[in-house]
Amino acid sequence: MSAPDTTEGSMTKVLITSALPYINGVKHLGNIAGSLLPADIHARFCRQVGHDVLFLCGTDEHGTPAELAAHAAGGAVADYCARQHAIQADIYRRFGFSFDHFSRTSGAANHALTQALFRHLDAAGFIEERTVRQAYSPAEGRFLPDRYVIGTCPHCGDANARGDQCEACTRVLDPHELIAPRSAISGAGDIEFRESRHLFLRQSALVPRLRRWIEAQRDWPLLVRSIGLKWLDEGLQDRCITRDLSWGVPVPRPGFEDKVFYVWFDAPIGYIAAAVEWAQALPGRDWRAWWEGGAAVRYVQFLGKDNVPFHTIGFPATIIGSGQALKLPDYIKGFHWLAYEGGKFSTSQRRGIFADTALAVLPADCWRWWLAANAPESADVDFTVTRFRDGINKDLADTFGNLVNRCLTFTAAAFDAAVPADGEPGPREQQLASDLDHHLGRLRGYHEALTLRHAAEGVRTIWRLANSYLAETAPWTVIKTDRNRAAVIIRTGVNLVRTAAVVAWPFIPDAASRVLRALGEEVGIPPWVASGVQALGAVEAGRCISVPPVLFPKIGDDIERRLTGAAHH
Ligand code: MF3
Ligand code: ZN
Repeated sequence: MSAPDTTEGSMTKVLITSALPYINGVKHLGNIAGSLLPADIHARFCRQVGHDVLFLCGTDEHGTPAELAAHAAGGAVADYCARQHAIQADIYRRFGFSFDHFSRTSGAANHALTQALFRHLDAAGFIEERTVRQAYSPAEGRFLPDRYVIGTCPHCGDANARGDQCEACTRVLDPHELIAPRSAISGAGDIEFRESRHLFLRQSALVPRLRRWIEAQRDWPLLVRSIGLKWLDEGLQDRCITRDLSWGVPVPRPGFEDKVFYVWFDAPIGYIAAAVEWAQALPGRDWRAWWEGGAAVRYVQFLGKDNVPFHTIGFPATIIGSGQALKLPDYIKGFHWLAYEGGKFSTSQRRGIFADTALAVLPADCWRWWLAANAPESADVDFTVTRFRDGINKDLADTFGNLVNRCLTFTAAAFDAAVPADGEPGPREQQLASDLDHHLGRLRGYHEALTLRHAAEGVRTIWRLANSYLAETAPWTVIKTDRNRAAVIIRTGVNLVRTAAVVAWPFIPDAASRVLRALGEEVGIPPWVASGVQALGAVEAGRCISVPPVLFPKIGDDIERRLTGAAHH
């Protein structure tokens, strides 16, 4: 991948979006692992190295799932969405997600932009009005939205394909393609197809441009590129972008007063609307500098594999067809699935661990660390409570937590809680600086290449390096015979603790910030450590430190039980 220009002084603009979570309910760990968290880690890293970052997200509020959830909850859809938006926003704040703005697709900005892009598409000849036969359920007296028609997938034969997409083979579908359709709401099998006027986006006319664009992305994850190309290879269908619903973005066209745009048409436009709202909040902010910034902006999207077609084909078709100078993503980081104890996470069946439960049981940093270090990056990954507990105990309690505690406790006890000034670093410290140099460089490369698990491993490596330096030099023994040498070791050790926290910050921002505060640093964004020499010289002699409370108490069986209990409510 073309790494952003990171030479000192030149700021790269990095636009980062995470797939917009659906409004209908609190998300589970799988949703977090496959878009929100990796996007936040990348945003934090980019800020650390001095890039100008705009990190956007929001709730995806239209569509039938929102309507049905609202009806189930009782009351108006708009009120339901407002409540759920506040709940999700609060959870993400507690997870430490550092959005520059957390938007709503039901907002005025998205309505206006969606209608404007539609008009551009129309003017360019990419919109076509057609009569479609649409699933209608006489039993329920309503048209059935695509995803509420269930049947057998014509491509892979899966018996529970939804009318909008088959989850088994990820292909996008139209309900009439399903074999033996039935209503997902009532189960009624007497589905009729009635006629209704709808608008189509002529994606088929954009195939050569889409293909050229995707084929040029040689550095994208195989998963993302192959899903996009597979879609084109199989013959891209024109896409119906309107629906017979009342909740959504109104269609600005006579005769369409009772219809709204399809949720997948307006939702990704919500990425742009989020920037518009961000800009409206303060004078001097310019959303166009981001979305119309061309090569001066690097745009990275984070999303799960079910979202890949909409981001490699659907949204790009909207942008390309509109003829507007809006950015296409420079990189799409797609994720596989996180499974839960050998099965699927499921929102509808409440199977798995949900974000609110997770935060009630353990600090966000525990979840952030495990989900990043075990990200479903190149294959599906199984979350199990046992693997989670063991991973946290080993990495956060035994490795990072222990490093901080051991070094700072000794500094407090033996040097009166002030970084000692005596002694000169020797060959062991020179060796350490060059090792650090090497590992810091690799870690930065992993972040830039968006290889999340490697980046977590790179952080772990630096933690281990620090621990083995202290274990080997044993200042607690040396101090009995050579106080100057012990001073050098502890000065080095405190700097190692600092480096360990700085590189950990994108992953575990809360714990990392507590460590930096214990070292007397009041930091918002701790700048990246440029070299081994800089790493070991950052904390000057004489600085007072404090010993923070144990950062990560070991996770025992009680927490295991609380989690397991919470997971099956
Ligand atoms: N709400 C969708 C999901 O959770 C993602 C929407 S991404 C966007 O799968 F691009 F449409 F915004
Ligand atoms: Zn299928």
